Amino acid sequence: MKDWKKATVYQIYPRSFQDSNGDGVGDIQGIISRLDYLKDLGAEVLWLNPVYKSPGRDNGYDIADYYEINPEFGTMDDFEQLLDGTRNRGMKIIMDLVVNHTSDQHEWFKMSRDSKDNPYHDYYIWKDPVDGHEPNNWKSKFGGSAWEYDEKLNQYYLHLYDRTQPDLNWRNPKMKASIMEMMKWWADKGIAGFRLDVINNISKPLEMPDDTLETSMDDGRKFYTNGPHVHEYIHEMYEEVFGKHSMLTVGELSSTPIDEAIKFTNPDREELTMAFTFHHVKVDYPNGAKWVKSGYKLVDLKKVISDWQIGMQNGGGWNALFWGNHDQPRAISRFLDDNKYREESAKLLALVEFGLQGTPYVYQGEEIAMKNAYFTDISQYNDPESINAYHELVEKGSSVQEAIEILQQKSRENSRLPMQWDSQKNYGFTTGSPWLKAINKDTQTVESEIAKKDGVLSFYKKLIEFRRNEPILIDGNYQLLDENNPDIFYFKRELNGHHISVIANFSDKDIVYKIDDLGTVKFSNYKETILENGELKLRPYEAVLFQD
Ligand code: GLC
Ligand code: CA
Repeated sequence: MKDWKKATVYQIYPRSFQDSNGDGVGDIQGIISRLDYLKDLGAEVLWLNPVYKSPGRDNGYDIADYYEINPEFGTMDDFEQLLDGTRNRGMKIIMDLVVNHTSDQHEWFKMSRDSKDNPYHDYYIWKDPVDGHEPNNWKSKFGGSAWEYDEKLNQYYLHLYDRTQPDLNWRNPKMKASIMEMMKWWADKGIAGFRLDVINNISKPLEMPDDTLETSMDDGRKFYTNGPHVHEYIHEMYEEVFGKHSMLTVGELSSTPIDEAIKFTNPDREELTMAFTFHHVKVDYPNGAKWVKSGYKLVDLKKVISDWQIGMQNGGGWNALFWGNHDQPRAISRFLDDNKYREESAKLLALVEFGLQGTPYVYQGEEIAMKNAYFTDISQYNDPESINAYHELVEKGSSVQEAIEILQQKSRENSRLPMQWDSQKNYGFTTGSPWLKAINKDTQTVESEIAKKDGVLSFYKKLIEFRRNEPILIDGNYQLLDENNPDIFYFKRELNGHHISVIANFSDKDIVYKIDDLGTVKFSNYKETILENGELKLRPYEAVLFQD
């Protein structure tokens, strides 16, 4: 795909987007029925979370068959109809590719655990017990040990995620060839690219030493994140598949430092198109710990974002830009105010995101300012990560109330509530009973946004259009100003002597801010900008984009 630098990607969480047959689960026909909406918004690329056949322990990230569509979502015919529907509208689809692990229901794994002599045994990572225990102390990212014991084989298999998600062994050439073949099959079908799930974790070292467990980050990840052969494997994918089909590829690269992200995405290296990294959404993880209640400091957020902006630009890499996705709580609830200043907050985040360098991603519902689910009981949760975290918290002494409050703030299920389309029952998402209870009594919907002239939705629409045609935003240099200001995020982009400046008040205070002449106001989340004698009078969560 050409022009991916100018495009905006819209992320669809199919399960929660639109149900077409009343079974309470979003599906492909539902997406098809909303293509005009997405086209009108200006989304050029749609990223679908996994729709392959899966038992759904991890909502599709546990794939049982890469060549089949999960019947919950529809059929391969439906998928092809979706491809046609996007093609006719000049849009593209990227698929989620999960090749670090499969489901334990995948045929390969079933054969793998059949016997040690089975040729598929080595498709996964098996180890003998050490002194009757797990081979090492690595932790699963969803809690507990990263190893699961299999009685029949008297061996452990590695699972960096749920125990139903065994890790594939990329050292096995046949396994690798099977994956390459599958990727080609999808490319031939006409998809535009892949979002590569946890791709920086696929290469495990031969030696798997214990970690120190000193902090929650010393859980083994230092040994397998950006492991020994990862760039080699991805370059092979490029040679065999991505390059031949000019695919757009985005690597999910959690815990990857900038120099590595540059290696993944500098075009000269022929690996991936862009890096989806998470450092900026860990500013509220004190010492790396996720499951604690915590605020964040704007100065930290600015530093992370700026380091990535400058580092990737200098190294010729390319960022994906985002505030939220299906693994993060809603950004307005997390970073700003989802109540009194909800609309201002949503627009502020949009303005900052679109002002930065990289390809912007809009996660479904962000364009209508959806907020956290605020579930009040653990029974409302479905996500294994959140449920495990809850039980670990309670076991370690948190009260039920404390644990629920932490989940209300940190759980990724917060962003998986069904899309709020209109004022009908279940927001028009389903005529049945939604798989995740839509308990928010919320008036914020696509319908209500369309009715407003200057709502969040139309703000996104204008920004997407503006950015597509504005070279300063695509190619301009980035500079952070007033870096120590605890409330204001002020940055500039520059190209051939022309500038775009973004000034955003991340606080609920009125702030008088002195500025030089920055040109004309192109975007603002308040009706008018108050600027007198070089003094910008910023109201709570006000954000302005100037151009000269
Ligand atoms: C990625 C996905 C997440 C999933 C995990 C395991 O982080 O985005 O939803 O649980 O990988 O596949
Ligand atoms: Ca359905």
